[in-house]
Amino acid sequence: MTEVSMEKIVSLAKRRGFIYPGSEIYGGLSGTWDYGPYGVELKNNVKNLWWKMFVHEREDMCGVDAAILMNPEVWKASGHVSGFHDPLVEDKKTKKRYRADHVLEENGVDVGGMTLDDMAAAISERKILSPDGNPLSAPKQFNMMFKTQVGPMEDESSISYLRPETAGGIFVNFKNVVDSLHPKLPFGIAQIGKAFRNEIAPRDFTFRSREFEQMEIEYFIKPTDWQPAFEAWRMSVHTFNNAIGISSERVHELEVAAEDRAHYSKRTIDFEFDFPFGRKELYGLAYRTDFDLSAHAKASGVELSIIVDDATGEKLVPHVIEPSFGVDRTVLALLVSAYTEDDLGGETRTYLKFNPAVAPIKAAVFPLLKNKPALVEKAREVYAALKRTTPQIMWDDNGNIGKRYRRQDEIGTPVCITIDFDTLENGTVTVRDRDTGEQERVAIGELAGRIGAAC
Ligand code: GAP
Repeated sequence: MTEVSMEKIVSLAKRRGFIYPGSEIYGGLSGTWDYGPYGVELKNNVKNLWWKMFVHEREDMCGVDAAILMNPEVWKASGHVSGFHDPLVEDKKTKKRYRADHVLEENGVDVGGMTLDDMAAAISERKILSPDGNPLSAPKQFNMMFKTQVGPMEDESSISYLRPETAGGIFVNFKNVVDSLHPKLPFGIAQIGKAFRNEIAPRDFTFRSREFEQMEIEYFIKPTDWQPAFEAWRMSVHTFNNAIGISSERVHELEVAAEDRAHYSKRTIDFEFDFPFGRKELYGLAYRTDFDLSAHAKASGVELSIIVDDATGEKLVPHVIEPSFGVDRTVLALLVSAYTEDDLGGETRTYLKFNPAVAPIKAAVFPLLKNKPALVEKAREVYAALKRTTPQIMWDDNGNIGKRYRRQDEIGTPVCITIDFDTLENGTVTVRDRDTGEQERVAIGELAGRIGAAC
């Protein structure tokens, strides 16, 4: 495991086209990030693998893709309008705002279970100042919902919110899915999509963004079954991590104390990851009981229950287990897990040791020399044939072979294929392995199978 600094990750991500600051040519927009050519491939691979594992490979799961803008009543019923906030303090002189819990933590205070009054007392007793050395205001709650106006009216009646979690779109479609598919308990609905939070202090690269993506499942169960279902999903989170190549040594479970759980949760486990900036939440697993379905049923007046006994017609409001995965944090954890420096042929090199399943490029094809038409023609033929079965294949004829290897190493390409003069003679190519740097001769006919099997 290479210990890596955030500076190295951020620099490689920018240099090699994974992640750029949002709106960069205008000086950026705090809390937003743009995924570049390799970032979008990596991210799509993560989302596709997640969907394959949790939707396509299971009988008890289906998906939805709900609108980001929802009727504001959704967020009133779910408790987000009144309760989705973080504690904020203001520098009395500069008026800069900070997350009170972060300021306290940075001053060595354990904030677990602290109320606003406790935070105010700690700030005053310990004489904690702002990062600029000025006195701080008393902490107050700051609602993180992004407000927007829907339609031409600019008054209270047109206020809506960008969703702060994708879960809302699943709960409001519970009845639609039940009416369309007639599933039996237990079953789950998955969704991947954007979520927005007006974070007081976005930081740590993409870790805490204002616009990010989630992959969420609401798994509907009989209330009596919540414990085994919770355990099964707990295992599934680890299975997913292992399948995509998140280093298991860096993942730790945290049983979240009652006073620190979200308002809807009766039990929460956070899956934390050892990021270079500390051990922080990667994913969450929550037992949301019937909180959401009951709240939406009450607020909308629409019954949100399911028949559990066809003979008697007995119905109940299902309870819910919710595994929630952040896409951006997954990508960041993958970059940290994959980042490796070693000594190859007496030279220090950097490479991303991605699991081939998530690697943005599965193989790169090179002609040994770009000014030899016979080599280029053969290489183009090999490239085109491979691309038909594995689209994430790259052509590279820029610079010498050593430079091409370094470039591919830094974006995590598992193998590089070189077409040389022997290829023209005997139909074999050089396949160079990213991790060991070793090369072997392989028949062109075997390439597609080898690359496909690895991905
Ligand atoms: N539906 C439950 C829910 O939203 P959460 O713990 O607030 O729970 C779930 O968020 C996941 O979404 C987190 O574990 C994290 O991966 C991701 N996430 C939350 N806030 C984020 C932010 N500001 N930036 C990036 N990812 C975030």
